[in-house]
Amino acid sequence: MTQLPGLLDTEAIRKDFPLLDRQVHDGRKIVYLDNAATSQKPRQVLDALNAYYERHNANVHRGVHVLAEEATALYEGARDKVAAFINAPSRDEVIFTKNASESLNLVANMLGWADEPYRVDRETEIVITEMEHHSNIVPWQLLAQRTGAKLKWFGITDDGRLDLSNIDEIITEQTKIVSFTLVSNIMGTVNPVETIIRRAQEVGALVCIDASQAAPHMVLDVQALQADFVAFTGHKMCGPTGIGVLWGRQELLEDLPPFLGGGEMIETVSMHSSTYAPAPHKFEAGTPPIAQAVGLGAAVDYLTSIGMDKIAEHEHAITEYAVKRLLEVPDLRIVGPSTAEDRGATISFTLGDIHPHDVGQVLDEQGIAVRVGHHCARPVCLRFGIPATTRASFYLYSTPAEVDTLVEGLEHVRNFFG
Ligand code: ALA
Repeated sequence: MTQLPGLLDTEAIRKDFPLLDRQVHDGRKIVYLDNAATSQKPRQVLDALNAYYERHNANVHRGVHVLAEEATALYEGARDKVAAFINAPSRDEVIFTKNASESLNLVANMLGWADEPYRVDRETEIVITEMEHHSNIVPWQLLAQRTGAKLKWFGITDDGRLDLSNIDEIITEQTKIVSFTLVSNIMGTVNPVETIIRRAQEVGALVCIDASQAAPHMVLDVQALQADFVAFTGHKMCGPTGIGVLWGRQELLEDLPPFLGGGEMIETVSMHSSTYAPAPHKFEAGTPPIAQAVGLGAAVDYLTSIGMDKIAEHEHAITEYAVKRLLEVPDLRIVGPSTAEDRGATISFTLGDIHPHDVGQVLDEQGIAVRVGHHCARPVCLRFGIPATTRASFYLYSTPAEVDTLVEGLEHVRNFFG
């Protein structure tokens, strides 16, 4: 068995994940390499979800009965856990949403409806990058269309990094908001946050970070990052689907208007007008994703018990090994950084002129689950003049043996297509 420095005890960790024992296609053990799409869930999270529904289920913040109080304590307890996980100065800065897309849409809409000094209008500019997931492009396009603001973006270099050579022309005195991903969901690139934030701060622009592909894999410290908003989702970090997070600086959350109106986000309502509850409740209209938040709290406990620094170290070792092994496959081209430096454990590639959908299908027949397509980051494919990629993405339970199986699987794909 290949041993690499920095690996976690995956034999023990994998026992926590029932799905990793699954067999597919006549007894082949699943090799799950689609973690950038969603992670598998440990028993601890599944148990927390079950316990919630079996013993504590009720609506939150509304009832005086014991179940309502328990459900509220569990839901708000999950907020405390998430706040600690990201080193938020205050628990009130943690807003629960449905997913990272909703978190990013929330920021765009807060700014779209805001008064000065935050308002985005035809005099102002919005800055994103060419390597964003569609969820960090489309909300800003919608906002630009609605307000007349100008949408600008950083391009991508040939080796899959952000081209910041014209940073002073992209981020200007007109820039109101700079929104970018910490880690690319398609290429795995880790972006130079500090350089971008420094320039944004020089011109007084707000900064929003999409941390969907970072929060599951590395220490995420919102105070060290110095951004204004950070968005991520629960299901990629061992939690359930249906729960996302938006962290925002307290004074901004106090000043900015809500986007969705409804129950629980108000202080008073008359037939003429309403006043709003303080953040985070101002931004959580309606019955929230209670069980999902509880599940995310359990996921945070689980990841913390292993240690985010150790998870990052494990993934770095796997990535280094995977990059080396994949580059040994004839005709394979990595789309994105082709070393393990400043990149996460997500690797996109093309294999000669074999269409990625064919690659994915032949790998699937061997029990290997990867994602193929444009990965909701179509501008990246357009930038490289390709219709799609095959993407393998690793996590804390991934092993060097699984990398070897992928490489053997790709040899099989090559033989199959001659
Ligand atoms: N955002 C997820 C991905 O990149 C779905 O696959």
